[in-house]
Amino acid sequence: MSANPLQIALDLACEAGALLLERLEHPREIAEKGRRADIVTDADRASEALIVARLRSEYPNASILGEEGGAYRGTSGDRWIVDPLDGTTNFAHGYPAFSVSIAYERDGELVAGVVFAPVYRECFAAERGAGARLGERRIAVSTIDRAADALLCTGFKPSDYERNAAQFRAASGRAQGVRRDGSAALDLAYVACGRFDGFWEFDLAPWDVAAGTLLVREAGGRVSQVDGSPARLDSPSILATNARIHEEVSAVLVEG
Ligand code: IPD
Ligand code: CA
Ligand code: CA
Repeated sequence: MSANPLQIALDLACEAGALLLERLEHPREIAEKGRRADIVTDADRASEALIVARLRSEYPNASILGEEGGAYRGTSGDRWIVDPLDGTTNFAHGYPAFSVSIAYERDGELVAGVVFAPVYRECFAAERGAGARLGERRIAVSTIDRAADALLCTGFKPSDYERNAAQFRAASGRAQGVRRDGSAALDLAYVACGRFDGFWEFDLAPWDVAAGTLLVREAGGRVSQVDGSPARLDSPSILATNARIHEEVSAVLVEG
């Protein structure tokens, strides 16, 4: 019998987070993955190796989708979706907004998700139907009703600035503030606990959004694509909000 998926995700996020903190203190090996400014470090790979090894031994039949190549097709309907270091650019510069993101899906449905930010020592966790928490504390999305009162967040690759400029401008014209903090998984966790009222981004991958999507939903928020259509993990865009401002923010972004 395999251990409880949420417990495994919590243990592994904690172990991987400790590894990242340890490597943060040492010179980093940084390589470009292909396009400009898309980087990977020794720590991304070491963190993924640690996580994937344990998942393979605890859940030998499950599939694994990991950012740094840990793809493994299993025989069961279970799948782990892993970003071993979300916010690599931040990490590479010693900027503390980075995280480990681990999600567990059963038959295509998100069941458990953990986002751990090791420098801040904050561990966000959610289980389907059981709510979301930060450490031991239950969390919920914010209760503001208007985009004018909102602190929003987004992200984009530097090479995609032009494609994102219109939405950034439109949101800045409407909200109280717009941040770009550099770890999509953490940005989503911050929507779940009410620090951000909304987050949007284009062209993310399943490992960036899987755990955070469950966190936001279990905290009472709403997740869709930017135009409001249903979100999938491989959607071309994501919009996550406290639900109350969802349609307003969606309209602002669509109008650009
Ligand atoms: C990135 C971060 C960033 C987002 C990028 C992602 P990585 O993930 O989530 O916030 O803007 O689009 O690729 O590469 O640091 O794991
Ligand atoms: Ca990522
Ligand atoms: Ca990553």
